[in-house]
Amino acid sequence: MKIVGTIAEMRALCRSAKSGGKRLGLVPTMGALHEGHLSLVRAAREKTDVIATSIFVNPTQFGPTEDFSRYPRGLEKDCAILEREGVEFVFAPAVEQMYPAGAVTWVTVEGLSDRLCGKSRPGHFRGVATVVAKLFHIIEPDAAFFGQKDAAQHAILRKMVRDLDMPVAIEVCPIVREADGLALSSRNAYLNAEERKSALVLYRSLRRAQELFRTGERNSAKTIAAARQEFASEPSVRLDYFEIVNPDSLEPVLDTSSPSLAAVAAYVGNTRLIDNVLLGA
Ligand code: PAJ
Repeated sequence: MKIVGTIAEMRALCRSAKSGGKRLGLVPTMGALHEGHLSLVRAAREKTDVIATSIFVNPTQFGPTEDFSRYPRGLEKDCAILEREGVEFVFAPAVEQMYPAGAVTWVTVEGLSDRLCGKSRPGHFRGVATVVAKLFHIIEPDAAFFGQKDAAQHAILRKMVRDLDMPVAIEVCPIVREADGLALSSRNAYLNAEERKSALVLYRSLRRAQELFRTGERNSAKTIAAARQEFASEPSVRLDYFEIVNPDSLEPVLDTSSPSLAAVAAYVGNTRLIDNVLLGA
């Protein structure tokens, strides 16, 4: 496994890896790897011949008061994990490599970037779209693998790829959960024992929505009200949003007969967690 820090070397390696007609898969991450990330690597192994993983805590997708500086970092451990998974290339550039002084060009997926997490994290999805576009240009993957966990993120990236004619297939992989239902996240490491218990309310609210759907309820407002009710029993958790939206446009849907994504974000202590389910799926 090769660990690469510069754009020039990464580009050259990936081009030569593809030269014999091999398909290159990219798994972009911010590190602090867990089984959710590894499920993407394994999907990439199924669908492509050579795997590149990027590990880059991307400053432009964090707000000024967010957790960029304390985001968990552990390159050595992450690389050992990826080596065991048989990944060929790890791209782990420094911030100055990805954002040379004076860089002012951004990718904005208008409209979608202001919905769901984009509402409470202004500029977040602009940072995500910009860094992923850069990774696509550097690595030139045939396919890139993202988790359903970040449902708005992959909707925005799918739109970016269509709008800008990027020759990359976006593959979406299911959410990996702990046995009790909590979605795996690098940010779960911030939770203390008490918060870890309280955090289950996110999944509980989604299960409530799913259960209502299963018993025939199709009214979004009623479903949202019932799901929000779950948060009444967890006063230490501050709900950011519980919404039901179209999974592609991220616009709210009034009725869940058409494809619908129930998405939730909440602060458990100081930790912001997200989760979602597709209703009817
Ligand atoms: P990060 O949070 O490290 O996540 C990397 C990828 O892992 C994303 O596609 C995310 O959806 C997926 N993932 C995280 N938790 C998951 C889980 N429990 N089950 C399945 N997949 C999961 O998302 C980012 O990094 C960044 O925004 C990035 C795309 C790398 C751009 O900086």
